[in-house]
Amino acid sequence: MLKIFLLLIATTTLVTTFHQYRDVICKTKDGRNRGGAEKAKCSISLKSEEFDRGRSARVGDGCYVERLGRGKETREICDLVCPKAHTVFVAHIDIGHRACFNYYNYELIQQKDEWFLMRSGECANSTITFRIGCKFDSPFNETYANDEAVFAHLRARRSRGLRLF
Ligand SMILES: *[C@@H]1O[C@H](CO)[C@@H](O)[C@H](O)[C@H]1NC(C)=O
Ligand SMILES: *[C@@H]1O[C@H](CO)[C@@H](O)[C@H](O)[C@H]1NC(C)=O
Repeated sequence: MLKIFLLLIATTTLVTTFHQYRDVICKTKDGRNRGGAEKAKCSISLKSEEFDRGRSARVGDGCYVERLGRGKETREICDLVCPKAHTVFVAHIDIGHRACFNYYNYELIQQKDEWFLMRSGECANSTITFRIGCKFDSPFNETYANDEAVFAHLRARRSRGLRLF
């Protein structure tokens, strides 16, 4: 009995994970959930729990445009600041969205240890909020001590305009 009990404790400890949530809130002037003539501007909101109110970075911080090849085609990338997350998932998007479809014009992508939300085509030109969950093996504040550190990372990401591929 005691053995089983100890085994249970050990197992529970092993599967302990830490999580964070992000809202990526993208808005167009027309507020429509279908692709319009204008690119949406996004702000990234940090949340410790899924239904927290969230602490928003400045509009555009953490996001940048990436040109594909030599053509005119572009896609929009937003840094989720979930370094070394072992699992990242879309927890929610607006029901019945008319322009954003997973794996078609939006997608979570991993590059080295980092995670990004990619939007392209009509999805990049529509109003939409993505709620994204990230799971980690260690507490997030071991990597980023506080919100200010995360906001600074997002500001730097925007100005660097890094190319992913
Ligand atoms: C999105 O908006 C841009 C203008 O910012 C426009 O050039 C582009 O054609 C639009 N894309 C789509 C798929 O409507
Ligand atoms: C990280 O956050 C936890 C609470 O979630 C706190 O107990 C701990 O002291 C924090 N660690 C650091 C390094 O700030």
